[in-house]
Amino acid sequence: MSVTDQITVAERAVRVIPGGVNSGQRRIEGLEGLVIAATSGATFTDGAGRTYTDYHGAFGPPLLGHNDPDVDAAVAETARTVGLMGVGVSEVEVELAERLVDLVPSIEKVLLTETGSEATFHAIRVARAATGRRHIVKFQGCYHGWHDSVAMNVISPAEKVGGKDPMSQGIFPEVLDATIVCRFNDAEDVERALSEHDVAAIILEPIPHNIGAVLPKPGFLERLRELATRHGTVLVFDEVITGFRHHLGGYQTVAGVTPDLTTLGKAMGNGWPISALGGKAELMELFSTTPGRPALFAGTFNGHPPTAAAAVATIDKLRSEPVHEHVFRLGGRARAGLRELYARLGVPVVVSGFGSVFVTYFLEGPVESYDDLLANDVDLFVGYRRELMSRGIFELPLNLKRSHFSYAHTDDDVDRLIEATEAAVTTVLARRTG
Ligand SMILES: Cc1ncc(COP(=O)(O)O)c(C=O)c1O
Repeated sequence: MSVTDQITVAERAVRVIPGGVNSGQRRIEGLEGLVIAATSGATFTDGAGRTYTDYHGAFGPPLLGHNDPDVDAAVAETARTVGLMGVGVSEVEVELAERLVDLVPSIEKVLLTETGSEATFHAIRVARAATGRRHIVKFQGCYHGWHDSVAMNVISPAEKVGGKDPMSQGIFPEVLDATIVCRFNDAEDVERALSEHDVAAIILEPIPHNIGAVLPKPGFLERLRELATRHGTVLVFDEVITGFRHHLGGYQTVAGVTPDLTTLGKAMGNGWPISALGGKAELMELFSTTPGRPALFAGTFNGHPPTAAAAVATIDKLRSEPVHEHVFRLGGRARAGLRELYARLGVPVVVSGFGSVFVTYFLEGPVESYDDLLANDVDLFVGYRRELMSRGIFELPLNLKRSHFSYAHTDDDVDRLIEATEAAVTTVLARRTG
């Protein structure tokens, strides 16, 4: 494909697809003409034939790298033998559910669906069914998908922090009212919400990765566990990003805190669309998959055998190969290298992350909650990432977005990342002073 062809594809897209992309997070200022022609391992190639080392990783799924041959072979093999029937269950769904029950501490029973949004939707629905209560608590900066109860208060402007900041029109005011937004790492705020309202569920990303990587302060997750238990509220860890990426048993295994319900997605199928909701049997048994039970659970594509096979193959590879060791080591090297680089340049930063995830905030620390991130130098954050593209490296040029290592990245990639970051940041800073 030539540059002209890439422009033609992007123009054709805009004619028939609103905005030319299939998710509101994919049309990025300055990248309106970007066409993805191919992905492979740690790279992608655009429509003009330029290849980039990819740290965006589709917001997180390809933990093993793009087009992992073992995962894709499992999908192809299952697709040849057992497709979607819409009645009964296939063995591969059971194999996957058994693995999830085995690996994730909170999961006694589990249901499969396709996307993270569906999983969090069903978590909230069943929490309301179980408790008969109306409200939920979410945190400023956490994202749990596009549905009405949670599509609010992620990357909010300063004036909206502390109030309701819906991400869409068309949400009933009653639904907005029923979601209470708390400050992450602020247990008193949560305690207040639980004592003032009838709260069915607290839902959170145990590390809010939708705003980079804001780590939970020691004791915060434990406090939420205690508060939820005391108030009879369902505690939901949304591990759509942290699940599998940070540990086979999710971040709950790392933290040693067990929620009542867990949602999983993204890295679970290494890029194939599969997600899960699991947790305490007494909650999971409320779903209508057992006839007569009160919480509707349905979906034509749920448990789709080839995508379930993708998840089984992904999990088996995570178990049998040193994937976590590799990505944690590269992540650690990158964070250390970046800290050293910015100290040398005299640029105040907080380099944050966990395991394979890293992000550099351009501000004075500490970073404990979303409000701290309002100080981020957005122009520098987005600007150095745009510069990186001309050096063949892709970190999503969008404020507060995190970057990821995969099993396909190498030590050489870390070296090139640090070198290119130095060149990119100094170019942006020189442009400012020049
Ligand atoms: C933590 C978290 N939960 C839920 C979702 C929604 O998942 P999906 O986009 O698959 O619907 C996302 C998506 O980015 C997410 O980051």
